Amino acid sequence: MDSHLSNSAIINEYVRRTPGSAALYRDALGMLPSGIAHDSRWMKPHPLYVERGAGPLKWDVDGNRLIDLFGGHGSHLLGHCPPGVTQAVQAQVARGSQFGAGHAAELDWTRLIQQMVPCAERVRFVASGTEATHMAVRLCRAFTGRHKILRFHRHYHGWHDVMAFGVDGHFDGTPTPGVPSATAEGVVLLPPNDIEAVRALFEADGDIAAVILEPIGATTGAVPIPGSFLVALRALTETHGVLLIMDEVVTGFRLAPGGAQEARGVQADICTLAKIVAGGMPGGAVAGRRDLLDFLDFEVSAAKGREKIKHPGTYNANPVSAAAGIETLKAIRDTDACARANAAGAAMRSSLNAVLAAEDVPWAVYGEFSFFHIFTNPDGLDVDPQAFDAFALPTAAFKPDARKSLAQKMYLGMVVNGVDPMGHRGGILSATHGDDVIAQTAAAFQATIRALKEEREIA
Ligand SMILES: Cc1ncc(COP(=O)(O)O)c(C=O)c1O
Repeated sequence: MDSHLSNSAIINEYVRRTPGSAALYRDALGMLPSGIAHDSRWMKPHPLYVERGAGPLKWDVDGNRLIDLFGGHGSHLLGHCPPGVTQAVQAQVARGSQFGAGHAAELDWTRLIQQMVPCAERVRFVASGTEATHMAVRLCRAFTGRHKILRFHRHYHGWHDVMAFGVDGHFDGTPTPGVPSATAEGVVLLPPNDIEAVRALFEADGDIAAVILEPIGATTGAVPIPGSFLVALRALTETHGVLLIMDEVVTGFRLAPGGAQEARGVQADICTLAKIVAGGMPGGAVAGRRDLLDFLDFEVSAAKGREKIKHPGTYNANPVSAAAGIETLKAIRDTDACARANAAGAAMRSSLNAVLAAEDVPWAVYGEFSFFHIFTNPDGLDVDPQAFDAFALPTAAFKPDARKSLAQKMYLGMVVNGVDPMGHRGGILSATHGDDVIAQTAAAFQATIRALKEEREIA
């Protein structure tokens, strides 16, 4: 534990409540880099180890009940263990998990995606969101014969070479360790929400194959993008023959059954899907225009006298992921699950802003759909939590808060009060988050704010 934090009552309480997690972490440190399997789980003094989940809740190895606001990195729109999904997965595992062959469920899965996702003339399954964006950019380069990809600062699209910089650093386009500079040179990074900068780029550089973005903004709208930017971007891409990749890995089947394309009324040339599409199991897909995905087609490529894009992948359309995906997508198509999650998001934002107002803290909780983000106001702006308009602020205002101990204690404070948010920055709601867990989260937030005041992390 950092010595300057050792007097923190918040941290001491976390340590007191989580001895089982601490013990597992000690073992993990001898085996796994930093003791973890995903960078976002890195947490001092130790991360949580979770045993099971149900609906909006999960329980750690010490038996602590937690309201889950991480939602399986966004994959659980229906909460943990929706009964129909669990049964479908169990039944499929009993029949087999990998046949090295096609199976009927991959067609049912595809039909659902085609019904729901506006651009999905053709679908190719992959094993993760990272694989989906990897394939999407390759398809776009092959289709256009151009080489470069436009990305926006802080937008996250997985961790492969083309996406491994410009997310939380390297905004100048220099590569992170292990990424060839030639690959980085094939990426142009721009700040979001500056349509004139995009226009200037497209006019000056005819080698841009595609633009990829998180359709409501970096980290599910933490740096928000208004719908009007997306509409303008769509128009510009059409004018300049640049393909539009909407990264719907998180927004897909969440903002609406048809994802951001339905919610914003903008159709992509190709979109990337993962998380909800596979019902919380590993999996993903690219879905898009037929002429684009035809670059994966043996017959079409041969007929056109061109080389196809090679694409094997052991876990593509894995039968267990397909079973989970089908049940999840049917529930989203046939019920009001997206609307309920969105309503829970709105209720959460307003409950937490009421806490900030009551506690006289000049922060704000903002976001759209089923997401909430906490603006901790690092520059000391004049903020009224209940009248905060995130679209009125310049994108630079949403820079990460550099106060590390505030971030750490904010997260741990929520955990000791029974809530597991997405770090200190916010969270994701599901269709199972009802008024009771929202009220309990608001109470946990108030207790955390008061503890932070006592520890002089906030005034
Ligand atoms: C918008 C977005 N794209 C791509 C990815 C990468 O997906 P995966 O973690 O399945 O590789 C993520 C993961 O969080 C994401 O949020």
